[in-house]
Amino acid sequence: MSRKKVGVLVSGRGSNLQALLDAAADPSFPAEIVLVISNIPEVYALERAAKAGVPTLVIPHKGFPSREAFDAEMDKALRAAGVEIVCLAGFMRLLSAGFVESWRNAMINIHPSLLPSFKGLHTHERAIEAGLKLHGCTVHLVTPDLDDGPILVQAAVPVLPGDNADALAARVLEQEHKAYPLALRLLAEGKVNVSGNCAHMDAAAPAGALVNPAP
Ligand code: GRF
Repeated sequence: MSRKKVGVLVSGRGSNLQALLDAAADPSFPAEIVLVISNIPEVYALERAAKAGVPTLVIPHKGFPSREAFDAEMDKALRAAGVEIVCLAGFMRLLSAGFVESWRNAMINIHPSLLPSFKGLHTHERAIEAGLKLHGCTVHLVTPDLDDGPILVQAAVPVLPGDNADALAARVLEQEHKAYPLALRLLAEGKVNVSGNCAHMDAAAPAGALVNPAP
């Protein structure tokens, strides 16, 4: 089996990167991480990659005259490393349409809400304010619109009485660390078929429901 080569873009602590590194440490996982790029120097994600023996690159966005120029530099590094799939893991920069287009159906992102609800930032605060009973995370293919694109995997968690944003974020994050490797596996195995804004795959959860509060 040839493993798909993956590049991960990060800007921060990198706990989702860690989940991907851990999954890829198993030689039977269909993807290997060959490069981690950060736009911010000295973030913890870079240490995680180094500890796993994965090459890292810092490309500070501030040094570039335009978004396109910065993206072109990332693209050059990804292509040079033979990357076939790009994972955004807490990468806090908007990407130019050209870059997104050139990685169409080969770039995924994890977002801390059940999309299409709560695109953008502060998702946990907004979920609590809206009185949601279920919240969660989504892994989706990246399209030019922010937090949009065909959905690959979603995981739901209950919003519990007395939750604050931090408690809810921690509950969601635990699921992110399972959902992201699962989505990468499905994509790397070629199990994802995209038509329009929907991704279809031969994989599903057993029938059942998560009901909160319990009936
Ligand atoms: C995660 O909550 C992810 O869903 C969002 O940014 C956060 C990154 O966390 N896109 P980490 O850097 O992976 O720990």
